[in-house]
Amino acid sequence: MSEPLLSVDEVTVEYITDGYSVKSLDRFSMRANRGELVGLVGPSGSGKTTLLSVLSGMVDATSGSVTMDGIDVCSLSGRALEQYRRNDIGIVFQGFNLLPSLNAAENVAAPLLLAGTPRAEAIARAESLLEQVGMGERTGHRPNQLSGGQQQRVAVARGLVADPTLLLADEPTANLDHISAEAVIGLLRELRDGGRTILISTHDTRLLPALDRVVEMTGAVPEVSAASEPVELAAGEVLFRQGDASDYVFSIEAGAVDVVRELADGGEELLATLEAPNYVGELGPLLGFPRSATIRARSATTLRPFTVTEFKARTSPGH
Ligand SMILES: Nc1ncnc2c1ncn2[C@@H]1O[C@H](COP(=O)(O)OP(=O)(O)O)[C@@H](O)[C@H]1O
Ligand SMILES: [Mg+2]
Repeated sequence: MSEPLLSVDEVTVEYITDGYSVKSLDRFSMRANRGELVGLVGPSGSGKTTLLSVLSGMVDATSGSVTMDGIDVCSLSGRALEQYRRNDIGIVFQGFNLLPSLNAAENVAAPLLLAGTPRAEAIARAESLLEQVGMGERTGHRPNQLSGGQQQRVAVARGLVADPTLLLADEPTANLDHISAEAVIGLLRELRDGGRTILISTHDTRLLPALDRVVEMTGAVPEVSAASEPVELAAGEVLFRQGDASDYVFSIEAGAVDVVRELADGGEELLATLEAPNYVGELGPLLGFPRSATIRARSATTLRPFTVTEFKARTSPGH
């Protein structure tokens, strides 16, 4: 077994504001292997951006350690830190962050130009990267002449300009329509197929199947109040609908439910039928996502609600 490329161990980041402390990350650990497309998946406020900022050397961890390609990231300072940021990692910031006055090639070339690379060489490298991300025809366009998906491709090309060991992308599909989001994910997978290691953050469920590995971030999953009375449903009654906010995980005590995906054309698709004893509805509350399917009673059914904490305690080994 080879060493992981990236190893994050027990990292805590604590911010002190107005005398009281917020832990954005609390003893958080993860790994990424070379050549993987890894997703940090969790709701808003769970510390995704904080972690990416620690990995890119922009935020200091309060405690814990980060090793990337043998580099002890938390100990870097001065020129060594600058060098790490410039050469070892590439960053695709949330919201693209392209400079409006520069065209696509200049935006991609900007980090090289700032580092003193001759202009012709930097632009040539930028054009070849834009070609690689499917933007070869648009090198002279300014950001405001490009769609969101196209701007994101430019931002990805810029993240790759120094040929980094690890590419970080914060919410790369946020604010993109379905088609552009799929195209961006397709691009990240292509880069992964080419041997690139990529770590993205997302709260977008559409991405889950595209990832080689999901690292769950649950820092801020809101805890709902203690579980209440069992729910009794008659045949055909709905427990919750796709798109509803997620609160409880349910155990099916008696009866059976259908798990139904509601389709864009108004139809529906039966994904599964679950009979007692079983759990249903755990994905949304665990990951902080809205419900991904509708749950409807197939017959008279009794369900018992559990909070995420209770559910984890019930399903942990040894229980
Ligand atoms: N500079 C900061 N000062 C104080 N609190 C912060 C700062 N940055 C982030 N936080 C807090 O840390 C938590 C995690 O934030 P963040 O990493 O942005 O989460 P995410 O990217 O998953 O939405 C939030 O509660 C946020 O309010
Ligand atoms: Mg964020």
